Parts: sequence; structure tokens; C-alpha cells
Amino acid sequence: MQITKATYLISSPSVDKCPQPDRPEYAFIGRSNVGKSSLINMLCNNAKLAKTSAAPGKTQLINHYEIFSSSPRSARGKEKGVTWYLVDLPGYGYAKRSQQQRKQWSRMIEDYLRKRKNLLNIFVLIDARHEPQKIDLEFIDDLGEWQLPFTIVFTKADKEKPGAVERNVKLFFDKMKENWEFLPPYFVTSAVSKKGKEEVLDFIEDCNKAAKE
Ligand code: GTP
Ligand code: MG
Repeated sequence: MQITKATYLISSPSVDKCPQPDRPEYAFIGRSNVGKSSLINMLCNNAKLAKTSAAPGKTQLINHYEIFSSSPRSARGKEKGVTWYLVDLPGYGYAKRSQQQRKQWSRMIEDYLRKRKNLLNIFVLIDARHEPQKIDLEFIDDLGEWQLPFTIVFTKADKEKPGAVERNVKLFFDKMKENWEFLPPYFVTSAVSKKGKEEVLDFIEDCNKAAKE
């Protein structure tokens, strides 16, 4: 699948202010600075689409991007266009946030994730350079409790040797196994080398198709 057009649509402070839930939607979440906005830009071939920053806490609201894609795979002869939403969310674990701001964040995110009818998958981003972090495992446990579909994306793979990434992935799933009977699909990505781009886009394509059936 190829993204043919990606445009910023709207930033919303709450789920009821989000655009009509009339097409498939995919959200990106994870620790502040893990690379959510960069991954969205990488997938959309547009470095300027979602605002990124070396300082954590850049993304504050629920940001919708309208995506148009075509998939030669599915078309018999002719390419068929499809439209869906990508959503960039503010990260968790940003140290400079007050208790009050954290509570506000939790409420906004939980509300959005649990109430958004067209949300087909949540991509939970984990920094591939680190060993399993409690904050990520706890967030994933929340998703389990809410029975929401998710996949894991290990980011910034270019910053580590492949062996170290593999080790961190294994350690992460070993930790998850303590609480989880089944493990989710996962991807290893880099916004710099574009590693994982096709895999993530193919996954989205499959979800889009499944939603239509
Ligand atoms: P918040 O919106 O603050 O929660 O952050 P975010 O998760 O959206 O992270 P963002 O995409 O802004 O990236 C944070 C920093 O990491 C930036 O300096 C990016 O250039 C860098 N970065 C993101 N992804 C990658 C990657 O795959 N490889 C490398 N080397 N750097 C990355
Ligand atoms: Mg961001």
C-alpha cells in the first residue's frame, strides 16, 4: 500500500470534538519523545506533517491526519483509493507535567481510546534502545483491561545494533508473558532508515480491508 496524500485535519481536546468517526482510524501512542510524530511522518513521506521535537511533550492534543492510499495489491488492473485517519497523541511519562496535567492527559486518552468507535488499532511505541519500562507495561495492561486491539512498534532501531534491539524485544515480551496469555503483533522501525514502513502500512491495509468485510 502507498500513501498518496496526507493532510493535517484538526487537533481536538476531547473525543467528542474529534471528526465524524466515518472511516478507519489508527492511533499512535507511547512515551513522550519515543518517536510517534516522526513515525507518522515517515509513513506519510512528509517530514513536516506532524510536528516533532528533540524536547519531549511536543504533542498535546488529539491530532487527526486524513490519509488517502492506494493499493496495487488489491486492485484488479485498476488502483483503488481508500481514505482513513492517522492520529498522533501526546505521550505519557513527560516529567515536566504537573499532577493535574497528568490526570487531564489520562482522562483525555482513556476517553478517546475507549469511546472512539472507528479506532481499529492502537500502535504502542516502545523505544528499542531500552530494556522493558514499567510505564509502558502498565499502559499495555490498561489496554488489556479495556479490551482494545493494539500492536507494538519498537522505534529508533537505527540507534542500536540489531542484536541489542532483538534482545530488548525479547525482554519486553518476556515481561509481557507474566500477565498476558497471547502476545500482540509487533514491528521494528526507524524514522531515519525507514525500516518497518512497508510492514506497518501492509498491516493497516489488512485492517482497512477486514473492516470493509
Ligand atoms: P512527543 O510528541 O513529545 O510525545 O514526542 P514524539 O513521540 O512525537 O517524538 P518525536 O517524533 O517528536 O521524536 C522525538 C525525537 O526523537 C526527535 O528528535 C526525533 O528526531 C527523534 N527520533 C524519532 N524517531 C527516530 C528514529 O527512528 N531514529 C532516530 N535516530 N531518531 C528518532
Ligand atoms: Mg509528538
